[in-house]
Amino acid sequence: MIGKIGIGLLGYGNVGVGLVKLLEQSQEVVFSRTGLTFEVIGALVRDPQKPREVALPFLTDDPAEIYLHSKVDIVVEILGGIEPATTYLLEALKHGKHVVTANKAVLAENGSEIYGKAHSLKRRVGIEAAVCGGIPVIKALNQGLVANRINGIDGIMNGTTNYILSQMHRSDVSYQEALTQAQNAGFAEPDPALDVNGSDTAQKLSILARFAFGVDLPWKLIPRHGIEQISSADIHFARKIGYVIRLIGSGHRNGSGIDFRVTPALIPERHPLAHVQDEYNAITIRGDAVDNQMLYGKGAGAFPTASALLADMVDVATGGGIGIGQLNGIEPAQLTTLPTRYYLRFPIPDKPGAIGKLAMHLGEQKISIRNASAELSGSASNVGQVQIVTHQTYPSQIEKAFDKIIEDGLLLGDPVGFPILNPS
Ligand SMILES: NC(=O)c1ccc[n+]([C@@H]2O[C@H](COP(=O)([O-])OP(=O)(O)OC[C@H]3O[C@@H](n4cnc5c(N)ncnc54)[C@H](OP(=O)(O)O)[C@@H]3O)[C@@H](O)[C@H]2O)c1
Repeated sequence: MIGKIGIGLLGYGNVGVGLVKLLEQSQEVVFSRTGLTFEVIGALVRDPQKPREVALPFLTDDPAEIYLHSKVDIVVEILGGIEPATTYLLEALKHGKHVVTANKAVLAENGSEIYGKAHSLKRRVGIEAAVCGGIPVIKALNQGLVANRINGIDGIMNGTTNYILSQMHRSDVSYQEALTQAQNAGFAEPDPALDVNGSDTAQKLSILARFAFGVDLPWKLIPRHGIEQISSADIHFARKIGYVIRLIGSGHRNGSGIDFRVTPALIPERHPLAHVQDEYNAITIRGDAVDNQMLYGKGAGAFPTASALLADMVDVATGGGIGIGQLNGIEPAQLTTLPTRYYLRFPIPDKPGAIGKLAMHLGEQKISIRNASAELSGSASNVGQVQIVTHQTYPSQIEKAFDKIIEDGLLLGDPVGFPILNPS
């Protein structure tokens, strides 16, 4: 494609308006770098009568008016949700359009079908905006790091949880207070479930798994833990031993497979991910040639997301985008688990023998304690806390120990356990 490229939008909400404004603002710089100009032909919306911040040539509630339009070369999907977005993307490909999407839910559920359809129809797909907004992580993996076997990734991929955890560290507020602050600041949805329970990060990690490790990994297979159980006691303990807590999506290779997880983790203060604050995202990538690299930036917001969409529009228009490499050699993910050190917290009663029994259960699962601290008396509720750092332990050992300890009636609340990230 050369010269003027016609763009059809599926969706014209926050990101759509951001994209139209960015196209206007960056026209000259994009032209000087690529020789391309983009013209938005029209947009699919739910309600074409609703007033819009920036007017377009036409709005429609009929998707065919976008993907059948003769002037549309690239269809940009920014609707959200799995359906009808998947169907419309497949229809656009069938009708000869290239597609660009910011929709992680669609790619996490139906990515293989969309890449396969595009490949068989010789169309191109751009997906950069779907993972970590403005951060060009897909391009880094597909282009800049193409010569590397990727051995590990660790990413802060969700701005909502990072904002909440940053607030808990900074202002000593509870999880609930930090969530309310995030909602007031526009960094958390009224219903934040998919963010705080780790599903959003798992969807992004499953998309990255294909490009980093060459595996097809349904996101629901990724073991995931959210941040809802994190308390001030966890934050204080982490700080005392020189760590911060962040929600991490990770994949690490060993000889037998890849250990994928989404979990809150203790990160050493000197690790670059520990410095990622508020709504920012970052991903560290360990390649066999480059060793460790980190990409950092805004993972959401209309302009950062529009920046990634526009980069993909250029990529697709100049023959790039997701290619045959994303289909060749893709295998089902071999899941494995690697041992890490763990942080554990147990709410227990101020009763003789409680700590002894706890230690016995951990010992029975061969969990070796590196250090421990206990605060049992003085609490009005009579709930004590035992906080433990273990030596290298497998998640299955922790799960079994938790089951036995709960069965034994030892606890006054749920136990908590997070892995501890190794220094970078
Ligand atoms: N917002 C971000 O920071 C961000 C960051 C990265 C990725 N994304 C992704 O970008 C996509 C769009 O996000 P957004 O924040 O722009 O969403 P949004 O503000 O809710 O906009 C959605 C747009 O799609 C239209 N739409 C939704 N369902 C439709 C349907 N069934 N038929 C016709 N039109 C429909 C809406 O029409 P009406 O205007 O008439 O309601 C609206 O124009 C999502 O996939 C999101 O995950 C967003």
